[in-house]
Amino acid sequence: MPLHPPARIGQSVDDIDTPALVIDLDAFERNIATMAALIPDGIRLRAHAKTHKSAKIAALQMAAGAIGVCCQKVSEASQLVEAGVTNVMVSNQVVGQHKLSRLAELAGKATVSVCVDDAENITALSAAVASAGTTLQVLVEIDVGSHRCGVAPGEPAVALARLIADSDALEFAGLQAYHGSAQHFRTDAERGSAIEYAVADVEKTRRLLTQAGLDCPIVAGAGTGTYSHEIASGVYNELQAGSYVFMDADYARNFDGDDEPTSAFEHALFVVSTVMSSTRPGHAVLDAGHKSVAIDSGYPNVWKREGTRYTGASDEHGVLEIDDAHNTPSLGEHIWLVPGHCDPTVNLHNWYVGVRGDKVESIWPVDARGAIY
Ligand SMILES: Cc1ncc(COP(=O)(O)O)c(C=O)c1O
Repeated sequence: MPLHPPARIGQSVDDIDTPALVIDLDAFERNIATMAALIPDGIRLRAHAKTHKSAKIAALQMAAGAIGVCCQKVSEASQLVEAGVTNVMVSNQVVGQHKLSRLAELAGKATVSVCVDDAENITALSAAVASAGTTLQVLVEIDVGSHRCGVAPGEPAVALARLIADSDALEFAGLQAYHGSAQHFRTDAERGSAIEYAVADVEKTRRLLTQAGLDCPIVAGAGTGTYSHEIASGVYNELQAGSYVFMDADYARNFDGDDEPTSAFEHALFVVSTVMSSTRPGHAVLDAGHKSVAIDSGYPNVWKREGTRYTGASDEHGVLEIDDAHNTPSLGEHIWLVPGHCDPTVNLHNWYVGVRGDKVESIWPVDARGAIY
């Protein structure tokens, strides 16, 4: 059973127990509205829910026009469907009998789709779905440059699409063409050029699919780093951006160069922490280490406190260094941190504390916390 939440609705933000995962609701709502406004006619948003793992946030994204969400794991999708989400794509490969059976059963409870990059996996998927008596939409994932999952574009992808189309239990839904590494290329020109190559791969594969008599209704991909390029491509029609909803410190570094477009999105996710030791000038220790804030994409940024940097993390301690010209924070002071990477930070917490101004307005569970299988 999860611990009780670190705050109560109506409390002052100063009374939140820490470390706590806090959403600035005004910034968060603006991020959802901004992304909804950026999606042109003919393109759909299927927001990535691995960012937030929350049915409540999925519902808010869908109320603003998203057609559904993506999940990365079957258990993540199951948790969100149990909590009321009606349309989920597992934007990943699902391998192994336990997972395939759970996925096939889930397809009886919601609209579900999945990605494949292997013929044997299609055979196993088809058998699981037939035995569950459900149907499943399947996208062929092509490797457009990330060199993670995905079959080679062109004929190898068409061969898999044909296998799917020939299975009674499965429906060929299109291509998954997500370029993961391009999301964090630091200049817009680099990101744009990576997506140009991805678009060429998709176009080549689509041409061959048409020649083979196979429709390709969906071309899916894009994240918070590249979505504007997929929108401009004329090829992608389903976008999977996720982090835009919270905007972490690492994504902010994409948009900090002189020639960079300013990010359309604001920091909306924070880990609020408390100074637990302040023994000398220029040095303080927080109660938020890497069990409260992920450090895989760098240390968190200290929010709105000039001359103060987070410089070291152990399990339950975070070290601050403070420049000479600035005050060292005192014992008990709250320090707001912008996580380097929002997704794994969220997975460390049971609850979101939603704040508006200086009041706690909502407490939401992180429904799919720990759903990694
Ligand atoms: C398959 C897939 N689609 C989309 C995304 C985009 O997410 P974000 O906008 O958080 O970068 C990811 C992130 O890793 C992903 O793995």
